[in-house]
Amino acid sequence: MEKKKINIGLIGGGFMGRTHSNGYNRIRNFFPDLAYTPVLKAVCFRNESKLKAFAEQWGYESTETDWRKLIERDDIDAVDICTPNDTHAEIAIAAAKAGKMILCEKPLARNLPESKEMVDAIAAAGVKNTVWYNYRRIPAVTLAKNIVASGKLGRIYHYRANFLQDWTINEKLPQGGEGLWRMDAAVAGSGVVGDLLSHCIDTAIWLNGGIQEVSAMTETFVKQRMHQLTGKVEDVHIDDACSFFCRFNNGSLGLFESTRYARGHKALYTFEINGANGSLRWDLHDLNRLEYFDNGDESNLRGWRSIHVTDGEQPYMNKWWVPGLGIGYEHSFVHQVADFLKSLETGEDCGPTFQDAYETQKVCQAVLDSAASRSWKSC
Ligand SMILES: NC(=O)c1ccc[n+]([C@@H]2O[C@H](COP(=O)([O-])OP(=O)(O)OC[C@H]3O[C@@H](n4cnc5c(N)ncnc54)[C@H](O)[C@@H]3O)[C@@H](O)[C@H]2O)c1
Repeated sequence: MEKKKINIGLIGGGFMGRTHSNGYNRIRNFFPDLAYTPVLKAVCFRNESKLKAFAEQWGYESTETDWRKLIERDDIDAVDICTPNDTHAEIAIAAAKAGKMILCEKPLARNLPESKEMVDAIAAAGVKNTVWYNYRRIPAVTLAKNIVASGKLGRIYHYRANFLQDWTINEKLPQGGEGLWRMDAAVAGSGVVGDLLSHCIDTAIWLNGGIQEVSAMTETFVKQRMHQLTGKVEDVHIDDACSFFCRFNNGSLGLFESTRYARGHKALYTFEINGANGSLRWDLHDLNRLEYFDNGDESNLRGWRSIHVTDGEQPYMNKWWVPGLGIGYEHSFVHQVADFLKSLETGEDCGPTFQDAYETQKVCQAVLDSAASRSWKSC
């Protein structure tokens, strides 16, 4: 079958530039039935010496150093935004006006007003879009979604999630600039709220529905750090840690915690959901497993079962190896590319869309506002 080509223009060649490029490259081999195929047409970032090497390593046909030039090109169908958060809005709005499909990294933007402009631009242009909240597409997490959607858990009472890291504990770590833009609120928008909790919130809304109101606290443990770009010691404006309670629209209660000061934890994303008839829990460090407690089990056999999500009947797994053999973090991006291409065939949305990511951004904003005002905020 002759495949329809989608020419990709990737902007940003750091961590996410690599995961997305790997995603595009795996499609031909592992999702051969898709009608559309991605073509790595161009990659763009500013460091010219690294750019050529990146293009060669991942198979891009051409390079650009200015994202505006990439968007102007007639041979680009889809723009993939893998740059720091302060650039998402400008690039996405320009790409929408140019009629390009857009795949944008999370969080959608630095703040709610920027996100709103992006959602409006997308709606006006009517272009296909998706946001890379990739954890939805880890098979065990997708299985959790299917179990919740089947109603097996019954009425949901509780949802809790953590995203813990420890890489900013060193007080001498500078802020800002290449590699450390996450520490600079002017670029990142916020600290752990936008960077880490946004993932937890996206998954939570997807599994358990919308969030009504939040009560949050944040802390900036190290108040001043040297700024890499100015060379001066400057105030730190990001949240180093955040905890919040919330109430979901379905009446269940939520508890979320994130920090970059949990010594020993590198990327511990966990969630648990408790319903009247059962519970689920998942841990990124053991990502092929989903733990499930079913209160309907025979009483003398009842207990938490650890489901190794590697069977061909489980989400995405018929595309990979044989039952019993696991897959990794990078596969979530392959799955998102595959689902995006499939959505071009079906005409359906490829969630999370910009609109979905805007809902997450609303919760992030309410969390930050709640912490600042020391009061409950509606989302
Ligand atoms: N989905 C996830 O799990 C996940 C994980 C990490 C990062 N992210 C998101 O991905 C985005 C990028 O993060 P990263 O970790 O890849 O960052 P990074 O620092 O590793 O890479 C950023 C890249 O963008 C380029 N860049 C910066 N400004 C540019 C500009 N004006 N024009 C062109 N290129 C420019 C840099 O040269 C670099 O190649 C962020 O929005 C981040 O929040 C998402």
